[in-house]
Amino acid sequence: MKLVAYALTFVVLCCITSSFVSSEGGLLQTVKLRFFHDNITSYADYDLNSSSLISHPKFELKRPTVIYIPGWNTNNTDSETFVHIITAYLQRNDHNILVLNYEKLSQEFYGFIVARIPKIGKRLALALRDLYSKGLDHSRIHMIGYSLGAPIAAEAGRALQNLSYIIPRITGLDPALPFYGNNMHAELNKNDAKFVDIIHTDAGVYGINRSVGHADFYPNGGRRPQPACGAVLWQKLSLLFGRCPHYVSAHFYGQSVASKEKIFVGINRFNSSDTAPMGFHCPTTASGDYDLRANWTTIN
Ligand SMILES: *[C@@H]1O[C@H](CO)[C@@H](O)[C@H](O)[C@H]1NC(C)=O
Ligand SMILES: *[C@@H]1O[C@H](CO)[C@@H](O)[C@H](O)[C@H]1NC(C)=O
Ligand SMILES: *[C@@H]1O[C@H](CO)[C@@H](O)[C@H](O)[C@H]1NC(C)=O
Ligand SMILES: *[C@@H]1O[C@H](CO)[C@@H](O)[C@H](O)[C@H]1NC(C)=O
Ligand SMILES: *[C@@H]1O[C@H](CO)[C@@H](O)[C@H](O)[C@H]1NC(C)=O
Ligand SMILES: *[C@@H]1O[C@H](CO)[C@@H](O)[C@H](O)[C@H]1NC(C)=O
Ligand SMILES: *[C@@H]1O[C@H](CO)[C@@H](O)[C@H](O)[C@H]1NC(C)=O
Repeated sequence: MKLVAYALTFVVLCCITSSFVSSEGGLLQTVKLRFFHDNITSYADYDLNSSSLISHPKFELKRPTVIYIPGWNTNNTDSETFVHIITAYLQRNDHNILVLNYEKLSQEFYGFIVARIPKIGKRLALALRDLYSKGLDHSRIHMIGYSLGAPIAAEAGRALQNLSYIIPRITGLDPALPFYGNNMHAELNKNDAKFVDIIHTDAGVYGINRSVGHADFYPNGGRRPQPACGAVLWQKLSLLFGRCPHYVSAHFYGQSVASKEKIFVGINRFNSSDTAPMGFHCPTTASGDYDLRANWTTIN
């Protein structure tokens, strides 16, 4: 009986894997850079091997550029986090806004994507190098990775360092825990950019449960329950479906982008006279673990 089960598993795994492998090249080709301008419905997709983005009439070389990398399964609940952040940047109207659009790939099995993250990161790094050579200012890039987007940003940072560029800032929004808990794969860390800041909101469930950046923020303890996510008991029980505490990290970030003032001020865990604002306004001098109580309210 056991043998039959093993055999079946083997057959299933083998066939799924081979169908994936044959389509891998095609899937990687579907990864694009999406340039947003004016509003959330105005955007243009560019192949990673194309640097024609630079000549888009709305692209302004004088502006800093933010590159947002969404998480796994981006078309589902997480797209809410995405809209929140992009809308906030659009309202500021002072950045070039790029999104790594890997929508097709992000619908695949989680483990399948994890295994391909080095390739995705490398392709993104090469795309950026081409854009730098066309005049994009590499000293004014801010990459933001939500969940599984964090290790993608990290890989891009590493690959760029091999090309002699260092990303000035990477922000990790509750960097993904599954597959990254025991150093099986290299999670975003402070060697991947000049400055790495992290917002932890679901540590130990969907988010990494250790400090990995130069500055790590722990709103409401950095773990569930989070005040915005409803009943505490439900949050504790619904590990599988309750992703709200995970995406609260992105809501905090979006709120900080939308705010002119420095909201969400964290207090250094080991030195209460050292404070720093969490999110968009976080200065690159921040260092250590910061605690705060915070809740978000929707923009508008
Ligand atoms: C760039 O990639 C696209 C698909 O993503 C492909 O069709 C095209 O041939 C590639 N162009 C070059 C110059 O490699
Ligand atoms: C979004 O911007 C475009 C111009 O790029 C405009 O035509 C369109 O009406 C705008 N949509 C909304 C919902 O404001
Ligand atoms: C994601 O959602 C958009 C809008 O609903 C849809 O056009 C697109 O095809 C979806 N992508 C995937 C991969 O399901
Ligand atoms: C960077 O280069 C080293 C040495 O050639 C190589 O081992 C490593 O895999 C490269 N890393 C990335 C992310 O490209
Ligand atoms: C993170 O989680 C792992 C596995 O559950 C646990 O062994 C470890 O102590 C946790 N680390 C922290 C800093 O909480
Ligand atoms: C936190 O914010 C959410 C959304 O605005 C709201 O529903 C919730 O009641 C707030 N929680 C607390 C404890 O203030
Ligand atoms: C605590 O933080 C303050 C403000 O940043 C700083 O001036 C002071 O040197 C710090 N103290 C220690 C012991 O690190």
